[in-house]
Amino acid sequence: MPQITLNVNGIKRTVAVETTATLLDVLRDDLGLHGTKKRCEAGDCGACTVILDGRAVASCLVLAVEANGRSVTTIEGVRGNAGLDPLQQAFIDKGAIQCGFCTPGMIMSARALLNRNPHPTEAEVREAIAGNLCRCTGYAKIVEAILEVSRRG
Ligand code: FES
Ligand code: FES
Repeated sequence: MPQITLNVNGIKRTVAVETTATLLDVLRDDLGLHGTKKRCEAGDCGACTVILDGRAVASCLVLAVEANGRSVTTIEGVRGNAGLDPLQQAFIDKGAIQCGFCTPGMIMSARALLNRNPHPTEAEVREAIAGNLCRCTGYAKIVEAILEVSRRG
């Protein structure tokens, strides 16, 4: 099996992977990072979203070998030394979390957006999370939470 090295949440990790393994499977099964959720495995739901070299991607659509040598941030890596990422806190404060299954993917898409565009319009926020399905919230509170962080930032 080929060995790959990833920088995951700031830590270098080397792992032997099947050539057919997805980044999602390696994060969850080999590295124990279960915050990244597994649902459709077809790029349709966004539950598995991580930030790969600065861009939000569906990790179920990325082969682990394609990620070799690259930087990955998962939901476990967004929390800073000072505590929760402001997005995580805003999702809690605004009631943007119900069952929570979509939340890690939503936060990663929103974090990638705010990292490259700290003051997005509502339309830009909606576009950034267009690939993240939520069955519970109706999206309004999620959008509100992301815009609240952008106003504060
Ligand atoms: S599990 Fe990857 S997009 Fe649904
Ligand atoms: S909070 Fe349940 S799917 Fe979004």
